[in-house]
Amino acid sequence: MKTTLTHRFGIEHPIMSAGMARVAQAPLVVAVSEAGGMGCLGGVSYLADALRDEIRTIRAGTAKPFAVNLLVPPSLVDEGAASWEPVRRLWQLLSPEDREKLRGVEPLLTPGAVARQVEVILDERPAAVVLTFDVPEWFVTACNERDIAVIALVGSVGRAKQAEIAGAEFIVAQGTEGGGHTGHISTMVLLPSVVDTVSVPVLAAGGIVDGRGLAAARCLGAHGAWMGTRFIASEEGYGHRAYKDRLIAASSKDTTLSRAYTGKPLRTLQNDWTREWQTRENEIHPFPAQYAVAGTRVETGYQDGDLQQGMMPAGQAIELLHQIQPAGDIVRTIVADADRILRSVSSSL
Ligand SMILES: Cc1cc2nc3c(=O)[nH]c(=O)nc-3n(C[C@H](O)[C@H](O)[C@H](O)COP(=O)(O)O)c2cc1C
Repeated sequence: MKTTLTHRFGIEHPIMSAGMARVAQAPLVVAVSEAGGMGCLGGVSYLADALRDEIRTIRAGTAKPFAVNLLVPPSLVDEGAASWEPVRRLWQLLSPEDREKLRGVEPLLTPGAVARQVEVILDERPAAVVLTFDVPEWFVTACNERDIAVIALVGSVGRAKQAEIAGAEFIVAQGTEGGGHTGHISTMVLLPSVVDTVSVPVLAAGGIVDGRGLAAARCLGAHGAWMGTRFIASEEGYGHRAYKDRLIAASSKDTTLSRAYTGKPLRTLQNDWTREWQTRENEIHPFPAQYAVAGTRVETGYQDGDLQQGMMPAGQAIELLHQIQPAGDIVRTIVADADRILRSVSSSL
């Protein structure tokens, strides 16, 4: 299955694993890239030195192309942004134990840390950087000078247009079904709308976990799929076994959109913790300050496996997940199934 995505990066299959903070560490990235897809590191969670080390660990594991996900809105890159003021205040209130548990979101709570992540990326030159929220033109220019492709993850047609104007080479259209930060429009509607609107190639995200999803995405005009939830339930994805087992057992109605973790809507497993915040919506701080209040919950979920008190993002397609598998097998199975489906549909015409 060859598309603009496979040609651009010289990869075998039009599949990218999502750059999920904490979940997508070197082992997952290596496994997906080695299987012929393109793995993406969840770069958001690493301070600069650790980011460089993780990129080098990936390079030690594979010579194949990989991507890194970053968030580079001005509110995070600019050390003088007003948005840092509440972060500083909330940080002072934290106990040493809680600060230790904020490791995975530390770069989002440390003025200057994202600017240093950017320096590492420009220096290390992964094949692609996937940006969520904002696509600043200065960043695209710097990447273009180093042959790093910029891919923008969007949840609306308006954002897709902005990303194209800013110079993104590919756009990932993510429907509301997706796990993590997400918009309000379904993949079935958003994907063809974005395909009709921009002239750069589009990848599909949100609700794709099997060959049927990839085949459908291709029919709707996508040049490949970007998948998160499917790869949490992989052997290489970082996360407590209880979290992965819950994904297999849960159904679509077990996810909810909550602003409790970051201040922006995020699809996660519904539990006692998300239900408690439903009653405290008016106490939620704007992004990124809410991380200082709730950022510890990611470790409660991913590391401690506390299903009721942890924050555990997941997409609606958990309904379709039946087993935890090696990431390479996931890539190969999805591509083989999509290929079979597309041939069978085409031969039936
Ligand atoms: C556990 C988890 C963590 C995520 N973390 C990030 C992140 O750090 N940056 C980002 O751009 N998207 C993140 N996302 C969203 C994914 O990039 C992706 O768009 C989404 O998972 C696609 O939908 P799906 O889960 O149905 O495959 C995350 C998603 C999940 C499930």
